[in-house]
Amino acid sequence: MRIFRTITEIRDFLRPQRAAGRSIGLVPTMGALHEGHLSLLRRAKAECGCVVVSIFVNPTQFGPNEGFSRYPRDLEGDSRLCDSVGADAIFAPTPAEMYPEGFASWVDQDDATARLLEGECRPGHFRGVLTVCLKLFHIVQPDRACFGQKDFQQALVVRRMVRDLDLPMELVVCPTVREADGLAMSSRNRHLDAAARRQATSLSRGLERARAAVAAGERNAGTLADLIRAELCAAGPCRIDYVAVADPDTLAPVETLERAAVALVAARIAGTRLIDNLLLLTSA
Ligand code: PAJ
Repeated sequence: MRIFRTITEIRDFLRPQRAAGRSIGLVPTMGALHEGHLSLLRRAKAECGCVVVSIFVNPTQFGPNEGFSRYPRDLEGDSRLCDSVGADAIFAPTPAEMYPEGFASWVDQDDATARLLEGECRPGHFRGVLTVCLKLFHIVQPDRACFGQKDFQQALVVRRMVRDLDLPMELVVCPTVREADGLAMSSRNRHLDAAARRQATSLSRGLERARAAVAAGERNAGTLADLIRAELCAAGPCRIDYVAVADPDTLAPVETLERAAVALVAARIAGTRLIDNLLLLTSA
């Protein structure tokens, strides 16, 4: 497995791969890799002849107080993990390589889906995500790019960009990988101390309670959101950014569950912001 730091190097590596007829898979990440990321890598490996993992803590998707500098970085550990699942290359550029002096072109998505939830809580976040993803897509020119359902809204806005800008690639969304106690794996979980780690299971527990209520016949979205909020509050002090029950294609709020619906949660526990989601109902 090779590690490349510059755009020229990764392009030079990929040209003969493509010429040999290998399909290219891309897994964009910010590193501090865990089983969730590795599940995307395995999927890419199963479906593509050559798999590139990008590892780049993208400064433009962090707000001023969102912990860009304290985001965990461990290229050595990450490269061992990538190697262990058969990745062919890591692309780990510096911020200056991705955003050279004078960088001035951005991707904005003028769409309700992008403005809701994370868009509302983290102004500029999706602009940073979409801009870096479009750059990575142009640099690597993947046939497929794998994303996680863990970041449900991110997968939706990236999919819309792929469609709107006619990018010749397929987006694959993979299921959320969880710890044994239900907590969705996340690089940010490293920031949780033992008490906060225990408390953090309230997100998935709340979502599971809502899903169980739906299975038992509950269809009122307000009641379901209240169940989730109650679970979060019962676990200890936390700041809830949102609890939403929404249409899984548009994220428009749902009042009564008649078709597919997803519940999405964002909450801060002991200073660490966590997000999670669960499909409550799938279309018949
Ligand atoms: P990061 O948080 O590192 O996540 C990289 C990819 O891994 C995303 O597609 C995310 O949804 C997926 N992922 C994270 N945790 C997961 C889990 N528990 N189960 C399954 N998939 C999981 O998301 C980003 O980085 C960045 O915004 C990025 C797209 C790389 C742009 O900078």
